Amino acid sequence: MFPSGCEDRMRGIKIIGAGMYVPETVISNDWLSTILDTNDEWIYSRTGIRERRISVDKPNFWMAEQAALAAVRDSGIDPSEIDLVLAATCSPDYYYPALSCLVQHSVGAVNAAAFDINSACTGFINALDTASRFLEDGDYRNILVVASERLAPHCDYTDRTASILFGDGAGAAVVTKSGKPMWSYLSAKGDYFNALYCKTDHSRSNCPLLKDSDAYPEGIIDSEAKTHTLQMNGKAVYKFAVDAMQTAVTKVLEKSGLHTEDIDLYIPHQANARIIESAVKGLKLPEDKVYVNLEKRGNTSSACIPTCLAELKQAGRIKDGMKICLVGFGAGLTSGAIVFEQ
Ligand code: UT7
Repeated sequence: MFPSGCEDRMRGIKIIGAGMYVPETVISNDWLSTILDTNDEWIYSRTGIRERRISVDKPNFWMAEQAALAAVRDSGIDPSEIDLVLAATCSPDYYYPALSCLVQHSVGAVNAAAFDINSACTGFINALDTASRFLEDGDYRNILVVASERLAPHCDYTDRTASILFGDGAGAAVVTKSGKPMWSYLSAKGDYFNALYCKTDHSRSNCPLLKDSDAYPEGIIDSEAKTHTLQMNGKAVYKFAVDAMQTAVTKVLEKSGLHTEDIDLYIPHQANARIIESAVKGLKLPEDKVYVNLEKRGNTSSACIPTCLAELKQAGRIKDGMKICLVGFGAGLTSGAIVFEQ
């Protein structure tokens, strides 16, 4: 049971469908060691990752559609009953239209509004929180939340610190109002914006007046070689991540009146096994309640958490009445946690 006094927080969600897509091409640590000065032992011991998948020829929207279609099928509802499509991505194929509009079209959600959310790896948490607030409004009954990332084109495969971490994939959930409580804690520390970023590319403009701006924010690298690939200060992100995950879980549990042992399932952002282990240790969470799948997936940014949800739902491990805690962090730097009862 949730503590009394939570009646005013009945903006809860129920996951009625979940789906995922992972690309076919597997990139092993051994393969990476043929193009980089690295090896399986280093990568596995420092990150917990053995392999990741990358989308060699399919765009991000295609992966998003596969995951979304699977989630809608799993939910059993007709696509016309979806009132809103929210897509989380930081690696869209197009500046516009929004990824959510492409997904809305392909799943046939003809009655749905659509917009995107970009908070990098925290995207699914922010999108799910947004969904719960729309569901409070009687106009919205079913919301499709999809998170999809194709990060391989962002990665610099001469940078052994960052490129080894990331993979591509998509996850999606159909959520409806549950009448049960839900809490969230969302945060951003924009002063760390330059710890993890990828700059847009306007270099192909043929406007004779345009020059690439030299007014970069302090700390942004603008050298030719590095301008349009993912840039990361691994140590700064690591330190932030361990602290942010603990803070987010502590704050959301404080709001809910629940204790760590009341939660049935924790799904953390899958960035690095050592980050998860440190946060789990700091929070004294029971390890058997913490779901980790990064060994075979790597870090798929916003897609990590919904991919875990889809795997767990397919395995029959998401049960009614379970209390679930999602926690993540990402570029921004952003972080957040959600607790809800399924
Ligand atoms: O969604 C958020 C995404 N980002 C993250 O989650 C990143 C968080 N940070 C991390 O996960 C870790 O900081 C890394 C995995 C990126 C790096 O691990 P680390 O334990 O912090 O390593 P380090 O940067 O301190 O590097 C230690 C050594 C260095 O060599 P020296 O200077 O000690 O000789 C690196 O050059 O390891 C070297 N190194 C590597 N060696 C083999 C760095 N990357 C590699 C590599 N293979 N792939």
